Amino acid sequence: MQNVAGVEMVSPAQSATPPRPATVVILDFGAQYSQLIARRVREANVYSEILPHDASWSEIERRAPAAIVLTGGPESTLAPDALGVDPQVFRAGLPVLGICYGMQLIARDLGGEIVASQQREFGAAALEVVAAAPLFDHVPQTSRAWMSHGDTVLAPPPGFTTLARTPTCAIAAIGDPQKKIYGVQFHPEVVQTDAGRRVLENFLHDVAGIAPTWHMESFVERTIGEIRAQVGDGKVICALSGGVDSAVAATLVARAIGSQLTCVFVDTGLLRANEGDGVVAAFGDVLHLRVVRVDARERFLARLAGVIDPEEKRIRIGHEFIAIFEEEAQKLADVGFLVQGTLYPDVIESKTPGSKAGHKIKSHHNVGGLPELMALELVEPLRSLFKDEVREVGRVLGLASAIVERQPFPGPGLAVRVLGEVTAERLATVRAADKIVTDEIERAPLERKPWQYFAVLTPLQSVGVMGDGRTYANLVAVRAISSEDGMTADWSRLPHELLERISTRIVNEVHGVNRVAYDITSKPPATVEWE
Ligand code: XMP
Repeated sequence: MQNVAGVEMVSPAQSATPPRPATVVILDFGAQYSQLIARRVREANVYSEILPHDASWSEIERRAPAAIVLTGGPESTLAPDALGVDPQVFRAGLPVLGICYGMQLIARDLGGEIVASQQREFGAAALEVVAAAPLFDHVPQTSRAWMSHGDTVLAPPPGFTTLARTPTCAIAAIGDPQKKIYGVQFHPEVVQTDAGRRVLENFLHDVAGIAPTWHMESFVERTIGEIRAQVGDGKVICALSGGVDSAVAATLVARAIGSQLTCVFVDTGLLRANEGDGVVAAFGDVLHLRVVRVDARERFLARLAGVIDPEEKRIRIGHEFIAIFEEEAQKLADVGFLVQGTLYPDVIESKTPGSKAGHKIKSHHNVGGLPELMALELVEPLRSLFKDEVREVGRVLGLASAIVERQPFPGPGLAVRVLGEVTAERLATVRAADKIVTDEIERAPLERKPWQYFAVLTPLQSVGVMGDGRTYANLVAVRAISSEDGMTADWSRLPHELLERISTRIVNEVHGVNRVAYDITSKPPATVEWE
């Protein structure tokens, strides 16, 4: 049987939802690296979830954990009000791995001794394994490990052995193989720890005995079952932006409930060259999803006329988008559900205290606000996934690599890459320059492609000379960065010949531009986008 996405559908007899995968619960003490630990566990094909360190035992037990990981954290376990865990964590008989603060907590709570150090140890250290244990199977006797701690364990708890040391830390790993509780002072989750992946895999597969069964194929199958159970025969809408998250979410929902889904693509006129047509072609013509294309280019231009302030632009675009989406949704009768491409980092961040969330730098727009407005129930099939897992799901679903590998693109689109007023003409200018940047970088034989690359049209005019004539025209800036997640970024060291080709082509081919600059600022202190 084929559904509207042209995809083989599972018959009802086969469609029973597969069981939840074995779960590792990660208790978070506010470490910088908690999300990284969760990703590393998943890279070992074991499903993981992060909970706050003070989650109650009943909340932890609800996940039916197969093992527990305690993260690092910025505080000291010796402080009077030091953060701890529900005592049941150590009594339940589950395998536990404590990392950094987590190891010190094991020492403190199970009867070991800890001492505050005068000096913090920070950076790479030579880790030496001093006793055999399943945690260190196949780990070389000495290897490089990343350390970052103040306090140290002076004596392991009764029943525990010292398993490793560094030149400045006599007890860098402890373990009680009987109870399957281990602590490591170093950070196995960072790439600077040579044997980090091996230590984590040893803990997960050998100590805890969890089979590596977390794969995107089984995720897809299980999620399709869950979507069917949630939606029944209800009607569902989804806003397609052209981005990876909404594309994968829509395709997954289409696999589950086929023709009950309608996708709405709002053409804001703020996309890059050929992107609007590309979205409609990919989803309508190739995947045969029902896509309603709304030509809202004039409406957005009208809302942006005369607006220069970046926040004002972002807010107006967000509001206009919601207004249009709502109008379209109301044209469809009886819609009960809205698909959103929410990812796991958004879920975690919305639950972390304000101190971690930081200041608002820019207003990101999405279709938030709509569900309450229209009494829609959310369908969020990606809310347990990291970005790289979403890409993997996209591949499993057979989405084209142009969609799966697409660069991040800001919700307000080219409006935040046209500094100053957004007009049809200025949009055409930045789009033409951007296409040259994209084409040239994609064609260049680079060892590593930048994570993101684009052109920005500035309102600056400068004097130039072309042929025999004086010009007084605009400056275009080129930005190319390397990054893992957009939170921090470094400017890409592109070859000068490539920059030269980009500059020459832009000045020759894009009307109204006579000078090109390359942005050599990292984030922080700059941001990726200029507005
Ligand atoms: P900034 O400029 O904040 O960008 O350093 C970090 C990353 O986020 C993207 N970005 C956005 N993504 N909606 C989005 O979905 C937005 O409003 C938005 N603004 C910036 C940006 O392209 C970069 O990858």
